[in-house]
Amino acid sequence: MSVAQSFLLLCSLLIFSLSPITAQTSLRPKALVLRVAKDTATLQYVTQIKQRTPLVPVKLTVHLGGNILWVDCEKGYVSSTNKTARCGSAQCNLANAKACGGGICGAGPDNPISNTGTHGDIRIDVLSIQSTDGRNPGRAVTVPNFIFLCGSEFVLQGLASGVVGIAGLGRSKVALPSQLAAAFSLKRKFALCLSPFDDGAIVFGDGPYYDLNNFDVSKNLKYTPLFINKVNTASGFLGEPSVEYFIGVTSVHVNGKAVPLNKTLLSIDNEGVGGTKISTVNPYTVLETSIYKALVQAFASAMPKVARVAPVAPFGACFRLQDIGFTRIGPVVPQIDLVLQNKNVVWTIHGQNSMVQIGGDALCLGFVDGGVNPRTSIVIGARQLENYLLQFDLATSRLGFSDSLLFERATCTFNFTSIA
Ligand SMILES: *[C@@H]1O[C@H](CO)[C@@H](O)[C@H](O)[C@H]1NC(C)=O
Ligand SMILES: *[C@@H]1O[C@H](CO)[C@@H](O)[C@H](O)[C@H]1NC(C)=O
Ligand SMILES: *[C@@H]1O[C@H](CO)[C@@H](O)[C@H](O)[C@H]1NC(C)=O
Repeated sequence: MSVAQSFLLLCSLLIFSLSPITAQTSLRPKALVLRVAKDTATLQYVTQIKQRTPLVPVKLTVHLGGNILWVDCEKGYVSSTNKTARCGSAQCNLANAKACGGGICGAGPDNPISNTGTHGDIRIDVLSIQSTDGRNPGRAVTVPNFIFLCGSEFVLQGLASGVVGIAGLGRSKVALPSQLAAAFSLKRKFALCLSPFDDGAIVFGDGPYYDLNNFDVSKNLKYTPLFINKVNTASGFLGEPSVEYFIGVTSVHVNGKAVPLNKTLLSIDNEGVGGTKISTVNPYTVLETSIYKALVQAFASAMPKVARVAPVAPFGACFRLQDIGFTRIGPVVPQIDLVLQNKNVVWTIHGQNSMVQIGGDALCLGFVDGGVNPRTSIVIGARQLENYLLQFDLATSRLGFSDSLLFERATCTFNFTSIA
């Protein structure tokens, strides 16, 4: 046998021995996708998964800072594959569920809208979610032993119509990102792309993620560290670190000029107070009162020719619509920059995301006054996230974020035609 012949033989052996592995890995989804719709009545972002046996669709409000998926088990929960979690079991430990009743561990399902909570059992059941190739949803895949929490009907108070629980995306071991990454050996990353309509998405796993116009929305990301707030005071989780996503805003600029503010408020103190977090359950960005007032002052004086009109709640600063021009990226107003770890890493908020039109004549600054001594000084709300791609990397504890996708003639609008 010549050298060339033995080389060919070696190659074909390699191909034969490799192909079964390739076949196996191709069964593993590359990423998973949830469709996200904005509920216009409540301004919540709602998604749907399938759960139980037989599988039924379950509508959930998306809570970026939620520590677990919980559903109302009081009404309509029927499943032949339901299992409870015994106190001290691996599932209870993973869920950090220390309470024990009747041999079953439990925790407090938390409703961040009405701030109600109660005690509920940890349960385990089948969960089903669609895979994606980054463009279209593909076949559904199932997690046979998905850990979740049972809520009660009264905890649903304030949630959007048809919603039966909360989809927690926080950085706990039992929130959706961690459980799905573990079940399918995905990268511990997920992307959030909120749309003002019904075709936004959450993608678990790595990109690229293509929008309806075939634009890879993860193409131009900037990165900033994610911080852990060591103190969590959400009901039922006292004394544990927060599972919410904090970033390090170091200053706020309006049209490139620093807004004078008390820098102490921008860092998290020993009691867990202060700093900046991202939220999908606050419809608008909430600012500690002195920051709010300074921003409004800077914003209004940066457009002296625009008349102020009577404010419309929940907003405190509204302007005459007729005085403001519009472009493809929304109203022409001063640019608001959240400056992060250095002056080159800036989260910019343009008119489309900073302004909210009320009726026919008012354009309001879409930020709200959070009063004195709020727990968190800056809570970046959902309206300010629309049509931006945010990628949360849990493994490296960093956030990738795009500028407004509208600049690229792209949006958080995805193709939900299944190619399964
Ligand atoms: C839980 O599963 C058991 C065993 O299949 C079944 O008997 C019971 O009815 C189920 N409970 C619910 C609430 O579906
Ligand atoms: C800045 O904020 C901190 C924290 O709320 C407060 O203790 C301090 O008095 C403030 N400083 C000024 C100058 O207002
Ligand atoms: C959505 O995806 C389907 C399947 O690939 C394709 O046939 C369809 O043209 C796409 N829709 C748009 C608007 O691009």
